[in-house]
This record gives sequence, structure tokens and C-alpha cells, in this order.
Amino acid sequence: MSEELRSLLWTGSSLRVLDQLRLPFETEWLECTSYRDVYRVIKNMNTRGAPAIGVAAAYGMALAAREALSVAEPEQFVRDAATHLKNARPTAVNLSWAVDRCLADGAPSLGRDARSTADELAAFAGRLAQEDEDQNLALSRYGARLFEDGDSILTICNTGALATYRYGTAFGSINEAFKQGRKIQVIALETRPYLQGARLTALELVTAGIPFHLVTDGMAGFVMSHGMVTKVIVGADRIASNGDFANKIGTYQLAVLAKYHGLPFYAAAPFSSFDFSIASGLEIAVEQRDEDEVLSFAGKRIAALGARAYNPSFDVTPNELLSGIVTERGVFTPPFVSWEKR
Ligand code: MRU
Repeated sequence: MSEELRSLLWTGSSLRVLDQLRLPFETEWLECTSYRDVYRVIKNMNTRGAPAIGVAAAYGMALAAREALSVAEPEQFVRDAATHLKNARPTAVNLSWAVDRCLADGAPSLGRDARSTADELAAFAGRLAQEDEDQNLALSRYGARLFEDGDSILTICNTGALATYRYGTAFGSINEAFKQGRKIQVIALETRPYLQGARLTALELVTAGIPFHLVTDGMAGFVMSHGMVTKVIVGADRIASNGDFANKIGTYQLAVLAKYHGLPFYAAAPFSSFDFSIASGLEIAVEQRDEDEVLSFAGKRIAALGARAYNPSFDVTPNELLSGIVTERGVFTPPFVSWEKR
């Protein structure tokens, strides 16, 4: 079962992070004992996926509060750690959401009692992890209702247990439908350049026993136009008030293709991925990553020497291309107006 794959484990004094750069062939856990270690594993994408980096950052705050016990200005140390952690990656809102919640709700003793702050933040990070697990399970149960016998579901990137604290979002919905006995199959995009689809989603699909085919990103139009896809579901890194959302690069073209072919297109994300402070997707910062990720493959240069690359890690899909957004509070359908209050 895919639930057996875990992304993060808190030991009580350190955060163990499954090194997703080594999957699927090597299972190695990295030990984070400081908030700077957590910053590094998020920035370098040893761990990734919007909810997972939110939970990891919360544990980073817990580590920072413990480190603060041996510095002269503990409160300032924790606040600096928060700023640092939030800068690790810009697009997924879960990161700043989790860090801000740690400061706002998770550390009542901050500025008064460093020992209590450390205990409070460790406990609070555990609560956020549990919340993520509960929300993803609820979301997956709603998402599973979208699928019926015979569905062939196309997805991109990795949105399973590896991308969250547990269960996953878009993948969680597929997995839940399969566990409930629906006869479904999956078409997974490999998701260049990090290959979340080929390396991670394929691993989760194999582990869960769900029938699937892996295709390269450029094959999406072919499989849709040949009747090989009945529905599309993807994750989200930041959803604006109007329903525009950022997700892994390649998502927008899938939404356009799905519209052209008359296929339902869903995003799935917990409310921790919503950013009601922005009106539309125009305000979402898209992370640009190193061009080397495109110029190379598995550590080996593939592009002609002298070639330059462009490497936006996410794109933004306009809300009008969405059939619905699956959340832990149910499936929201257009129009996405004042829907956060529903
Ligand atoms: O760059 P990544 O691997 O962190 O991007 C992940 C995605 O785009 C996912 O679709 C998204 O975070 C949702 S994960 C449940």
C-alpha cells in the first residue's frame, strides 16, 4: 500500500527525511538536527511536495527553538529561522503557511521562556503533521468519488504519500478509489526535469498495485486524442482566491488539452495550499530552478555544450479550465466566488 511510503519521520530530537533524490532505487534517510539542515533538504528537493515541505518546515521551527536554548537572543534566533525557512522555496504556500502558524499559534511562550517555546513548537509541529494526515485522508475520500469503473486517470508530478506527511492529495484520491474496489488505471507523466512521475509516482503506483502506464510529458496530447484518458487530476502548490492555481510545470498545458478534448480536469489540495491573500494566479511567484536540471539527465550533460536552458518549476492554470477542486471540505465546483466561506 502506498501509505507505507513515508516522507518524514520525527524522532523527538531530529527530523529524518527520506532522500527523494535517490528514489526509486536507493532508500536513504537524511538526519536533520538543525533548522539549517531542514532549509537545505527543502531547497535541494531531497524532500518536496507542498504539504510535505510545510510539515518539514514546522519541524525546522521546532529544531530552531531547541537550538535557541544555547544562544543569547533566543526569540530573535527563532524569528530569523522562520524567515530563512520561508525562503527555501517560493511557490508552495504551505511552507510560509506552516512557519507563520508556528509563530502565531504554536509558540505562546516565545519571547518569555525559551525552554517552553522549544517544547511547544515540537508539539505543534506534530499537530500540523497530524492535521496534514487527517486532511489528506478526508480529501482523498471526496476525490475517490470522482472516479468510476473504467476510468483512465491522467496525472502529473508526484502527489502521493511522498509529497505529503501521509496519503497524498491527487494521488491519494486515485489510491482511495482503487482501495474501494474501483477498476481504474492511471497514466502518469514522467515530469521532466526532476522526474517526480517516473521516479516517485511510478514507485507509489507499483507499491499500491494500481495498473498504470508511464508516458513522457510530450505524449499527453496523444493519449488524450486517442481516447486513452477519461479524467485528469493534479495537485496544487498555491491556489488563489479566484481558483487559479500553481502546480508542477506542464500542468497548464494539460488543462488546455483536457478542455479541448472535453475531459474533466480536477485539482486536489488541502486548505493549507490556499492563499486567500492573493486575488488571482497573476500574483503567484514561480520558482526558477538551475538550468543544469534541464541541460543534464541523471547527472550527465545531454544538451550540446553552449546551450542555455530555461527552468520554471511551476506554471499557473486559470480557474476557467477547472472542473473542480478537491479539498478536505468537499469538492468545490465553479464559479469559485467567496467559496472559502462555503
Ligand atoms: O517541485 P515539487 O516536486 O515540490 O512540486 C510538487 C508539485 O507540484 C505537486 O503537484 C504539489 O506540491 C502538490 S503535492 C501533494
